[in-house]
Amino acid sequence: MKTRVAFVGTGGISRAHIEPLSEMEDVELISFCDVDISKAQKAAEPFGAKSYENAIEMYDTEKPDAVYICLPPFAHGEAEIGAAERGIPFFVEKPVSNSIETAIAVRDAVEKAGILTCVGYMNRHRQGAHRAKEILAEDPPVLALGHWIGGAGGGWWGQKHLSGGQLVEQTTHVVDLARFLLGEAVEVYARATKGFVTGIENYTNDDASLVSIQFENGAIANITSCCAVRVGGGVGLTIHAQHAHLVFRDWAMHLQIQRRDGEPEEIRGEDNIFGIGDERFINAVRTGDTNQIYSSYADGLKSAQITIAANESMETGGPVKIEAV
Ligand SMILES: NC(=O)c1ccc[n+]([C@@H]2O[C@H](COP(=O)([O-])OP(=O)(O)OC[C@H]3O[C@@H](n4cnc5c(N)ncnc54)[C@H](O)[C@@H]3O)[C@@H](O)[C@H]2O)c1
Repeated sequence: MKTRVAFVGTGGISRAHIEPLSEMEDVELISFCDVDISKAQKAAEPFGAKSYENAIEMYDTEKPDAVYICLPPFAHGEAEIGAAERGIPFFVEKPVSNSIETAIAVRDAVEKAGILTCVGYMNRHRQGAHRAKEILAEDPPVLALGHWIGGAGGGWWGQKHLSGGQLVEQTTHVVDLARFLLGEAVEVYARATKGFVTGIENYTNDDASLVSIQFENGAIANITSCCAVRVGGGVGLTIHAQHAHLVFRDWAMHLQIQRRDGEPEEIRGEDNIFGIGDERFINAVRTGDTNQIYSSYADGLKSAQITIAANESMETGGPVKIEAV
């Protein structure tokens, strides 16, 4: 029997999931929802699928087996809670929200319903991330240095009250990978600057930020973001342990490992990482086996919480504790 999948939000990132899902023999793409109905129709057309303007109406009419929620940070809440209340497992793109209150309300609805969820932190599906975890389990991390440097976008992306800013929306991948490998955070301290980026309508994001994170196990990290750079940039995370040095680089998070004892290792980041995560999510929906769900909703909330707390630190100028929520 085919797994009947629906989409909420049919913008840029939805295509990265629609393509691999459409190639899976046991998946049927049944319906697409977007507040811009023309986008939903365009996405639905190649599959002879239905289109909707409202997620709840789509759930009640189509009764999908699973839903992909690919919404901008400010638009979350209704689609997830509606899915949870109807027992529909969902995949949601990162960040889970730019609002901690919304994320907590969704997390609670998910827990109450007991449904399967997966957050789009695709780097957790990389072989390199798992090899790094294995090494760091024996040789605990001490220091991590991460960055996401590039250019700024417009629309909702460039408006901090909608996107949460670059750290919440984009560098969240680096923060999440650091959390995957270093453990839970207890405190953040952040600084930001703005006023360099010009010429983007309604732009209110910070242009650059620095965030220091203190982890429960004593490790510390410094994660930098900049979206004011138009001549290249890059993405990376370097982790230092006492006997190992692990360098993830580029969007694909290629990994180089240097160890005091042992040969250097290189693990290339997988090109088809969205497809790999999608296969694992669909398999989990089908079998109920969550072994390869590396980022549940409750877990994804914790990565969002660090970046939202860092925004608070940027505003207050002081450190912010990461409280249990
Ligand atoms: N995993 C990744 O590497 C990755 C890459 C890009 C984007 N993303 C994330 O995916 C999310 C979406 O990004 P995008 O680039 O696709 O944005 P987008 O603006 O291209 O698409 C979002 C779509 O959602 C629709 N929408 C907004 N509110 C809605 C609602 N309430 N109901 C239904 N549809 C609604 C919009 O009309 C739009 O078509 C963001 O949170 C972004 O951070 C993740």
